[in-house]
Amino acid sequence: MSTAVRFHDQHVDETGPSFRDDVIAGLGRSPKALSPKYFYDERGSLLFESICRQPEYYLTRTEEGILAAAADDIAALVGPESLLVELGSGASHKVRLLLEAMRPSRYLGVDISRDFLLQSTRRLAADYPWLEVHAAWADFSARLRLPSGVEGRRVVAFFPGSSIGNFAPAEAEAFLGRLRQALPSGSGVLIGVDLVKDMAVLEAAYNDAAGVTAAFNLNLLERMRHELGVAVEPDHFRHFAFFNVPASRIEMHLVSQQRQAILLEGQRFAFEEGETLHTENSCKYSVAGFQALATRAGYRSRAVWCDSKALFSVHYLSSD
Ligand code: AVJ
Repeated sequence: MSTAVRFHDQHVDETGPSFRDDVIAGLGRSPKALSPKYFYDERGSLLFESICRQPEYYLTRTEEGILAAAADDIAALVGPESLLVELGSGASHKVRLLLEAMRPSRYLGVDISRDFLLQSTRRLAADYPWLEVHAAWADFSARLRLPSGVEGRRVVAFFPGSSIGNFAPAEAEAFLGRLRQALPSGSGVLIGVDLVKDMAVLEAAYNDAAGVTAAFNLNLLERMRHELGVAVEPDHFRHFAFFNVPASRIEMHLVSQQRQAILLEGQRFAFEEGETLHTENSCKYSVAGFQALATRAGYRSRAVWCDSKALFSVHYLSSD
């Protein structure tokens, strides 16, 4: 097997709304809001990698511990020679915990950050010469389709990190339902889901002392400035993250520190002092609550693994 990555970018939907369109729509709305998918430009992807190493951000290391401990169980459930599709593959660290045990014949990384995707799949191909590595530059939240020529008898969609938490529960259910339709029968989904817990632990994870999450949130304004030429002063906004108990989600906002306006292509978007731009929801589930959601989306819950403190869960769902 050569170490070249097969690259597929026919998936990027050029006709869908652009960053610019979504910024205009999101700033024009009340309350103001923008999709968290826009966090992940090059700098944002690097900042996210740094968040994952912060002591308060228990999610990454806890999920990695679960995956390492469960790798043989997961491999036994999935069987060999599968196509392993990683959604939002980022740096592709976590999948390394599965590859030796699972021995898939093909890997497909799907990510919205093109350069990051290319770098990380190239490293994967170099480190696992027996693995056929594919990369698809795509916004899988908008459209799901396996690139032609990347079929597999058994497909396992790997969706780690609790990224499913970015969807509201009804959207998560619809997304998982669409994913199920896009996969051949006999497929599975291996998905990481963050659990509801003590509010102080949750809030600390999104307010790390080193300020990396704050920089990640504020980078959205930097990105608007240099990609779209938005006139905005990031220093005039502050990072704010809290646990919304009734909605069972962490919310992240950028809070305007003063009455001000930001400008895009001559359009003026006014902020009151204290008004926020809502940048992310990160929903938290109970194990039973997530299993019920997966069942409503048409899956069967086959296995769940948790850490000893019940901070995080990894679910294996079969598509039929
Ligand atoms: C990648 C969506 C799982 O919600 O914890 C981390 C993103 N935002 N810190 C999360 C994030 C702030 C992360 N997900």
